[in-house]
Amino acid sequence: MTAETLSKPASAAGPSRYSTVAIILHWLIAAALIFQVILGWRADDGPKGAETFALFQLHKSIGITILVLSVARLLWKFTHRSPPAPAGQPTWEKLAASAVHVGFYVIMIGLPLTGWIIASTSRINIPTVLYGLVPWPHLPGLPELAAGAKDAWNDFGHIGHSVLVKFTYVLLALHLGAVAKHQILDRDEVFGHMAAGAKPGIKEPRLWLAAAGFAAVVAAGYLYTPAKAKAPQPAPAESSADDLALPDEAPAAAAPAATQAGPATPAAPAETAEAVPPADSALKDPVAWAVQKGSHLDFNLAWADTPIQGRFSRWTADILFSPEALDRSKLTVSIDLASAGTGDGQRDESLQGPDFFNTSANPKATFTATKFRKTAEGRFVADGTLDLRGVKKPLSLPFSLKIDGDTATARGVTTLDRTAFGVGQGEWASTDQIPAKIKVSFALTAKKK
Ligand code: HEM
Ligand code: HEM
Repeated sequence: MTAETLSKPASAAGPSRYSTVAIILHWLIAAALIFQVILGWRADDGPKGAETFALFQLHKSIGITILVLSVARLLWKFTHRSPPAPAGQPTWEKLAASAVHVGFYVIMIGLPLTGWIIASTSRINIPTVLYGLVPWPHLPGLPELAAGAKDAWNDFGHIGHSVLVKFTYVLLALHLGAVAKHQILDRDEVFGHMAAGAKPGIKEPRLWLAAAGFAAVVAAGYLYTPAKAKAPQPAPAESSADDLALPDEAPAAAAPAATQAGPATPAAPAETAEAVPPADSALKDPVAWAVQKGSHLDFNLAWADTPIQGRFSRWTADILFSPEALDRSKLTVSIDLASAGTGDGQRDESLQGPDFFNTSANPKATFTATKFRKTAEGRFVADGTLDLRGVKKPLSLPFSLKIDGDTATARGVTTLDRTAFGVGQGEWASTDQIPAKIKVSFALTAKKK
């Protein structure tokens, strides 16, 4: 019977191994899936910082790749013949093999689908860009759902994903155990179905190659470290940020009032300012200043315990300011929120979404100050209003200032409470992941207009 089966032409009994395409897909999917499980563990356990964020991006990318390959593999299976079971294999073994294989297709497709459901229903709405290159949509219909229904789908995705993960462990144990049994105990051709040319027995090099490959993929899963989040793009600059910085504790105390003053008489050009005696300063108009390239406006926050540095690359400032004419000084800073960069394109896109800046409804934040106080030599506070995300709140901005001829350098830092402006909706309104306090700082050079 055995001899008869073996001597039959392949077309009658079936091929002696899987087709090359099926074999390539099997090993590719197997390697990707094992790597993916390790990534999943690391991403799930890690602190919710920049590295975890990057691990999840890769987890999503590989998961979707597995989905595409598995659908291709399934289509191929339906249109191509598989090798027959070894002659004389008991029925229960055949059934068990089929059940494990069907189970694999369930997890190969079910895990990415449940993962995709999680990503599509997350409150933070992080877009998926496969390998940072190919935008991948959310599952249609899910992102638009009302909050309650969305949360229910999200729970379903999480539960489904973790149940299927456990099922995967069981299938893998059965599958690997079965391969070992066929290869070592039964000494039949089953391993050769998937490893062309393999002979039965423990000495078969392809078996050891598969074992080494398995170990290598597990090691790669643990060793992989995402590229460090890039430093935010500096504003188009000729000079570096450090060139501008005033020492925090030693502001420009030496700058005499007269040299910082505006024109000698209201009508006189600014260039004559150096000659103005202090006594006349009360009459002076504040000077208009033009912000120079290389100035920058930054924000710092923490995501879990990982610090994240951000920068606005587009903003303008209308500055009318003289230390001697504080009562008539004015400052308006207009910030293009869509220009916020934190070194990660996908995080930046989420920042603009409805949960954070909501830039489609509120493209700009504005800080307007008409009250200035001098707190020490070269140190001032601008008391104004910040209009962010449609919410207006008072904000005080302390800064140090040094004026040298026509050039002023200023630096300031303040903290604001993002929750007071509604930056962080839904699960992000809570401050356990992202603390409420956001540090905002600037360093600028300006020239008299
Ligand atoms: C996560 C990893 C793996 C997955 C998802 C997986 C999945 C599958 C599936 C679905 C099949 C059935 C093919 C079909 O008839 O359509 C199969 C067959 C097979 N797999 Fe895997 N596999 C994995 C890992 C491995 C490993 C590590 C080995 C070997 C060390 C292996 C050896 C085999 C062999 C020999 C067959 C052919 C069985 C037969 O005669 O039909 N697999 N695998
Ligand atoms: C075959 C593909 C996939 C495999 C093998 C896989 C595996 C895993 C594993 C092992 C975990 C850790 C879970 C735990 O330890 O309980 C995990 C978590 C996670 N995976 Fe996947 N995953 C796959 C596809 C995807 C895809 C495509 C996405 C998103 C598009 C995704 C999103 C997630 C998320 C958000 C978590 C955290 C889950 C939670 O907290 O419940 N996964 N995955």
